[in-house]
Amino acid sequence: MVFPHRKFARPVLVVTGASRGIGAATASLAASRGYAVCVNYLHAEDAAQSVVSAITAAGGEAIAVQADISVEAEVVALFSLVDNTLGPIAGLVNNAATLETQMRLDAMDSTRISRIFATNVLGSMLCAREAVRRMSTRHGGCGGSIVNISSGASRSGSPNEYLDYAASKGAIDTFTLGLAREVAEEGIRVNAVRPGFIYTEMHAKGGEPGRVDRVKSLVPMQRGGQPEEVANAILWLLSPEASFTTGAIIDVAGGR
Ligand SMILES: NC(=O)c1ccc[n+]([C@@H]2O[C@H](COP(=O)([O-])OP(=O)(O)OC[C@H]3O[C@@H](n4cnc5c(N)ncnc54)[C@H](OP(=O)(O)O)[C@@H]3O)[C@@H](O)[C@H]2O)c1
Repeated sequence: MVFPHRKFARPVLVVTGASRGIGAATASLAASRGYAVCVNYLHAEDAAQSVVSAITAAGGEAIAVQADISVEAEVVALFSLVDNTLGPIAGLVNNAATLETQMRLDAMDSTRISRIFATNVLGSMLCAREAVRRMSTRHGGCGGSIVNISSGASRSGSPNEYLDYAASKGAIDTFTLGLAREVAEEGIRVNAVRPGFIYTEMHAKGGEPGRVDRVKSLVPMQRGGQPEEVANAILWLLSPEASFTTGAIIDVAGGR
């Protein structure tokens, strides 16, 4: 991948929540396309190290960095560690997110809702802030690209399952539009990908590991998606091939 305005040999990419699922697929694909990748994770050190080992075994460059994106000091430390090891960043994939056991709103307590918003919204905004501080030409940076991972839940609202998660993804859609316009003249493109039902471990966290197979008949293509299919859209948005695309939200959801 060629970034003509960059003086460094390879672009540096931070992927949050890259120990598994869509984040891991994105980190691996990015590395195969020449990015040096920061594989961020929360708890799963072994899984993150496996992603890094597979990348380096294939001749790529990656580091695993533990940081809870909902904690400001950890986000600041994460980006500063990347500065000092991989070099100036060219991209951020705001992928890390969480959900909790399926339930109706009338059964939720406020601490749960706060936890969801702390990771999915606050965490993504803090990571984007650190990326803008580094990539914006206003701050002496060389520009770059941010891809936020939203969800089809922002359109469906996820009734009876997780309104809190769905609402947090609605916030990500709005944040994407606003930030795209805020930094459009500063060399930074900001876009989002809205995955549909994708085979990852996230559904087990919601209490239903087989959820994708239960709901796949609702999808016009009659199947769930694979993390790699989402990663392909993310990599396109990150790349110079998407040079006139900002503020876009791409549904990768089989037509749903
Ligand atoms: N799977 C789907 O059907 C689907 C559909 C629509 C949208 N999405 C979105 O796609 C993205 C990836 O989802 P996924 O299904 O791949 O999820 P996943 O398999 O549950 O993986 C989540 C990743 O996020 C990390 N993470 C969670 N909380 C974090 C925190 N506070 N700080 C840092 N890392 C944190 C996890 O780290 P550890 O492994 O260390 O815990 C893990 O690497 C999310 O934004 C999700 O909302 C998924």
